[in-house]
Amino acid sequence: MNQPHSTRDFEGLAALVTGGASGIGAAVAMALRDRGARVAVLDRDPTGAPAGTLPVAADVTSDEAVRAAVAETVAAFGALHTVVGNAGIGAVGTVEDTADEEWQRLLDVNVLGLVRTARAALPHLRAATADRPGCVSITHTCSIAATAGLPQRAAYSASKGAVLALTRAMAADHIREGIRVNCVNPGTVDTPWVGRLLDRAADPAAERAALEARQPTGRLVSAQEVAAAVAYLAGPSAAAVTGTALAVDGGMQGL
Ligand code: NAI
Repeated sequence: MNQPHSTRDFEGLAALVTGGASGIGAAVAMALRDRGARVAVLDRDPTGAPAGTLPVAADVTSDEAVRAAVAETVAAFGALHTVVGNAGIGAVGTVEDTADEEWQRLLDVNVLGLVRTARAALPHLRAATADRPGCVSITHTCSIAATAGLPQRAAYSASKGAVLALTRAMAADHIREGIRVNCVNPGTVDTPWVGRLLDRAADPAAERAALEARQPTGRLVSAQEVAAAVAYLAGPSAAAVTGTALAVDGGMQGL
């Protein structure tokens, strides 16, 4: 599964992956790199950026930092064709035990972070459509939490519901410009994020078993499986696909 992909369908394309230094984002950065893309990894802590990618330090809560990171990417690669808005954070709780500040933090990173990234990238994406029609895209990492009611995830689910609606609205706004906008809706993915969640649990093994049992496949999704879906949506095979949410959730939503 970690073998370089045999299809070089991103050859000549330049990509930016936010939150690309860990988990799903790092798997996406590797998948696009292995398919031939030049990849910049925007992260608030880019030390984990995969080999062969360009690490760019920026926090998606800063419009100025995101603009500078996009400018640095375009200066390095000469163009920008593929944006993957993936940086995100979680929060555990119901509406009663989630403070306003926590809601604001979640929305700032998970929703406005994507808005800032898109706003900085769109002029460059528009410029790239003449060069590579069908290959210019924005793909968001949303979540199955946008469509399924999960307990103890009020603020997180609301933020991802907003990401789903944002994805569809952006798809409508930019379809005539040749820019496709889609999202993936992962179930529970085996990443450092979930590792941290398990570390905090009273009984990590029981908590992991519960997360596995929640998905009909009986296991967690791998970051590589999500990355393959992102690479499909972002790539030339999906030239007719926009405004779509692709679930990679072990059957959680459909079964
Ligand atoms: P992770 O915690 O392993 O990686 C997230 C990366 O984003 C880290 O490198 C972190 O430094 C970066 N990041 C966080 N806040 C940032 C900010 N303000 N500015 C710049 N970079 C920032 O998490 P994971 O699991 O890979 O999650 C990635 C995305 O996938 C998130 O949007 C998350 O909501 C989504 N997701 C994760 C699922 C899971 O089960 N792990 C399930 C469904 C969606």
